[in-house]
Amino acid sequence: EPEVIRDKEAMRRWSRSVRSQGRTIGLVPTMGYLHDGHLSLVRQSLSLADVTVVSIYVNPGQFSPTEDLSTYPSDFSGDLAKLAALSRDNVVVFNPMNLYDYGGDDGEKKNKTNDRGSVVSCVEEGGLGHETWVRVERLEKGLCGKNRPVFFRGVATIVTKLFNIVEPDVAFFGKKDYQQWRIIQRMVRDLDFGIKIVGSDIAREKDGLAMSSRNVRLSAEERQMALSISRSLAMAKASAAEGQTNCKELKDMIIQELVGAAGRIDYVETVDQETLEGVEEIKSGVVICVAAWFGVVRLIDNIEINVS
Ligand code: PAJ
Repeated sequence: EPEVIRDKEAMRRWSRSVRSQGRTIGLVPTMGYLHDGHLSLVRQSLSLADVTVVSIYVNPGQFSPTEDLSTYPSDFSGDLAKLAALSRDNVVVFNPMNLYDYGGDDGEKKNKTNDRGSVVSCVEEGGLGHETWVRVERLEKGLCGKNRPVFFRGVATIVTKLFNIVEPDVAFFGKKDYQQWRIIQRMVRDLDFGIKIVGSDIAREKDGLAMSSRNVRLSAEERQMALSISRSLAMAKASAAEGQTNCKELKDMIIQELVGAAGRIDYVETVDQETLEGVEEIKSGVVICVAAWFGVVRLIDNIEINVS
């Protein structure tokens, strides 16, 4: 099984020693409960870097007080077994207990913890001995940022902390979370992190459903209905390939497939691949992004449309 490092200072020491040997480090940040989508990032990292750090940390900073952090699924020993199957020697797991504990009286008092010792919520004002946040101001606003106002600042901040602790050469993010990937890419550019960011293709089930830790919460019927997302995105892409450049037509096509299948549609948007700003006519690279509810589960998916 891979080595597990829990202490951030030990993690930093490990990284610095690896780098002093001239070896490169790939980082795959995750919140655990690993599936083949996560593992495809790990595989890619193993092929591009000498050693790979997989971080497993459910980040309280990206959950709002109304979202239940304590029910986020976890299976740590299962995660280790899956990673062991990929590599015996070149993977290390970074599994910190609490990345918002800075020691000292202040930090201890302000961190509200649950019975497992994890921070419960750090979003409420003063709920944590932490007050520095990274915001990617424009990119974080649209798409998933509309309904989840503190989500991306929490992601950008924890990824910054992971970058500072692990000091990787390259880090991997799934295009499944397209906006997240673009935000991290922009943050790395704007703040001069010397880290290469790789966006990895979406791993899908055989029938097209994008892999997600939330898929297990779908009933058999909802699981079937959820296929409307990947199916409608593929239809829109095919239509674009046949010359349809009007984004409203493409979106309507998707909405027609989703209505009746999804409980509720959060959004269907055609946006520029880099700025994530709305696009009405396909002239350059566009990505069509969908978020929709099936039962209690909110699913997201997207498809890139490139113009040659
Ligand atoms: P998590 O949801 O665990 O996802 C970890 C990484 O796996 C992300 O980069 C995500 O985009 C990628 N991923 C998930 N499903 C995928 C799929 N079907 N195909 C390809 N990649 C997929 O995203 C997070 O955790 C957190 O926000 C994190 C970045 C770790 C910060 O806390």
